[in-house]
Amino acid sequence: MIEDYLRRMRERVEEALARAVPADWPVPERLREAVEYSLWAGGKRLRPILCLAAAESVRGEASAAERALPFAVAVELVHTYSLIHDDLPAMDNDDFRRGKPTNHRVFGEAMAILAGDALLTHAFYVVARAAEAGVPAERVLRVSGELARLAGFAGMVSGQAEDILEERGVTGPEDLERIHARKTGALIAFALRAGGHAAGAGEAQLDALELYGRKLGLAYQIQDDILDVLGSEERLGKSTGSDARGQKVTYPYLFGLEESRRRLRLLTEEAKAAVRGAGLAAPDRLAEIADLLVSRDH
Ligand code: IPE
Ligand code: IPE
Ligand code: MG
Ligand code: MG
Ligand code: MG
Repeated sequence: MIEDYLRRMRERVEEALARAVPADWPVPERLREAVEYSLWAGGKRLRPILCLAAAESVRGEASAAERALPFAVAVELVHTYSLIHDDLPAMDNDDFRRGKPTNHRVFGEAMAILAGDALLTHAFYVVARAAEAGVPAERVLRVSGELARLAGFAGMVSGQAEDILEERGVTGPEDLERIHARKTGALIAFALRAGGHAAGAGEAQLDALELYGRKLGLAYQIQDDILDVLGSEERLGKSTGSDARGQKVTYPYLFGLEESRRRLRLLTEEAKAAVRGAGLAAPDRLAEIADLLVSRDH
């Protein structure tokens, strides 16, 4: 069952994540606490699971996931940093995340900013060490460049900047799609590509995995917008109504809930088609994950 698969993958990710920051490094206790607080607050681990599932899909070998683990950890480190910074008063100004008060509410803004900085920097350390886990050095180099590109200027950071700069009444559908694709789709696309690299995927397979990630990532953010309107705070573990308070341009705001749902379903079908027609030995898990996400409530 897909639920069992997700649970097993989450456990593997969390074992590796627990070892990610060496215990004997001389990190100030307060900084370590701030980092661990957000890392262990109960994230769904979607991106690292997708990374492992992508690695398995390439040749249908479960062992490929082992080599992808460092990349899976790296993507969760980057994602967690992005959430800490996204919640800051200067950004979305949110008080709850992953079922707990946000990082800056507990540790203060300075420590929250630094925890994010440390997580982002450490992700590149973890990627570099993937060579020791058996990933060929030239693949590690490519993954490192792709992480910088897709989490940074060509992806998440630019998407977040545009999200902050967007204005109601000015931002149209095309702008919104680009912003969502970058702020959320790009890092998810990275997770898929990185898994592919760990398994030695060819260029066409990498492109297919990336396309799946981009479609799924956009769908994921549309659902996130819908849940910000309709979801339960308890279930989501984060504040709802954040987008309306921040006067955000979102899918429900621009298109309404029904049309947003229609687009979400369409993108999910496109994501599945991308991995099914791409010469992957075992695309079924990825397709199942896509199906599951359409109806997620948290
Ligand atoms: C939340 O991501 C932010 C978005 C990009 C929509 P997740 O829904 O994956 O959050 P966690 O990691 O499970 O907390
Ligand atoms: C954030 O989008 C995407 C990121 C890159 C962190 P949101 O601002 O909608 O995410 P939530 O709803 O706070 O999780
Ligand atoms: Mg935001
Ligand atoms: Mg937010
Ligand atoms: Mg949101």
